[in-house]
Amino acid sequence: MKISGDCMTALKFYLLTDTHYFEESLGAEGKAYEEYMKTEAFYLRESSAINKTVFTKLKEDSETDLIIIPGDLSKDGEYESHKSLVKELNALKESGKKIFVITAGHDYNEYGKCYKNDEVVKVKGTTLDELYNLYYEFGYKDALSVDKETLSYVAEVAPLTRLLAFNCDSKNETKGTIDSRLLMWAKEQIDDARKANAYIFAICHYPVIPSVPVFDLVGDAKVKNWKEVAAFLADNGVELIFTGHMHIQSINEFFTENGNRLVDICTSTTVGTPGKYRKIEIDETGKMNVKSIPVCDFPVELNGKTYEEFFDWRFDYSVKNKINKIFEGGSGAVKILKKLARKLLNSIKLGTLSKLLFIKIDKSLKKKKLIDFAGEIGTAIFKGDQPFVKGTPEYDAIFKALKRLDFILKKVEAKLSKNGEKPDLTYMILNSIGNNKGYSDNNAVINLKGKIL
Ligand SMILES: [Fe+2]
Ligand SMILES: [Fe+2]
Repeated sequence: MKISGDCMTALKFYLLTDTHYFEESLGAEGKAYEEYMKTEAFYLRESSAINKTVFTKLKEDSETDLIIIPGDLSKDGEYESHKSLVKELNALKESGKKIFVITAGHDYNEYGKCYKNDEVVKVKGTTLDELYNLYYEFGYKDALSVDKETLSYVAEVAPLTRLLAFNCDSKNETKGTIDSRLLMWAKEQIDDARKANAYIFAICHYPVIPSVPVFDLVGDAKVKNWKEVAAFLADNGVELIFTGHMHIQSINEFFTENGNRLVDICTSTTVGTPGKYRKIEIDETGKMNVKSIPVCDFPVELNGKTYEEFFDWRFDYSVKNKINKIFEGGSGAVKILKKLARKLLNSIKLGTLSKLLFIKIDKSLKKKKLIDFAGEIGTAIFKGDQPFVKGTPEYDAIFKALKRLDFILKKVEAKLSKNGEKPDLTYMILNSIGNNKGYSDNNAVINLKGKIL
């Protein structure tokens, strides 16, 4: 495939990410496990069963032979989890699939953890060298160039189609950064692809464009120097990047001053809400069809829930526990105040809160607890296509609350301003709770600039 021309070859592949594969036989039971899972947003004991079901579905699609996985392959770098995942990937390969992966922060560790006899037990972790060897067959073996320092690579994944695989998460010092040295290496790879008349697209574990506007304020939610990287890619003719890390469904566009565009398609984890993977089909005219497929049919006890409810429950439960943990501990007056704050947070209803803020909200929201409302908004953000747009009671309530709290927001904005740029928190929040982009985060048709051949 390459930009412009007459000859036609389409490209089809599956994009799944953040498999967080955990080898169940390591141990995932007991009191320490239950305690840990109170604040974990994705499934651990069930991870191998869920991922194996996804792999089986990929195997069944005989028309699509390419699979791409941009990182966080294992739970937390357990060597045994990697070994088991590699076994699964080898089985996929034997069924005729070509698989390209990059590794990320959850894939290397001095030691991993498992849970046995009510205790946390240390298990062998994985080094970067071991990762290179473990996943040699899934990218590095066929690479045209490897940046050994970061384990980034370029490979031809289909005729005249190259994958620029950035590993921005292989070193703690430059975690989440694509530095100028790596960009120089990337420039050589892009130029090389151009010389060969090959189309080139990219993957990176971290989103390059913040998935929702408020994530621009969260350090670890996107590539740290994201504007530089987005402009570099777009202005060098790389229009498409697939990312993960945030476990979120989002599609975003970034335009450079020269009018060039980067499209960042970020995909959820397979083992937690929203539990989706993507099928990408690009036809000969450059029309890209992005389809999101729900992870389901896995052989796990759902406790009467649907697959979607099963994933949502874990996210909601873990977020509420995390919030409550903030209000734990302390001594004396601090402990009493924290306890009161926790009680208030867990019981206050939107009707009461609206009275305290002197705002009117829709009747349908009044009996809803603040903590449940926050959970709903959070889950909606990670699922993409957030429904809380202008005209909905939720938008209206949040808009009025933000207006009422404007004097506080102004102070926060002043504190957050960088290089003379002040964030508009009201705009960022309202465009994070509602998708106003004019296209879906889950299923979209995107016309790429170049035609494909
Ligand atoms: Fe992840
Ligand atoms: Fe990650």
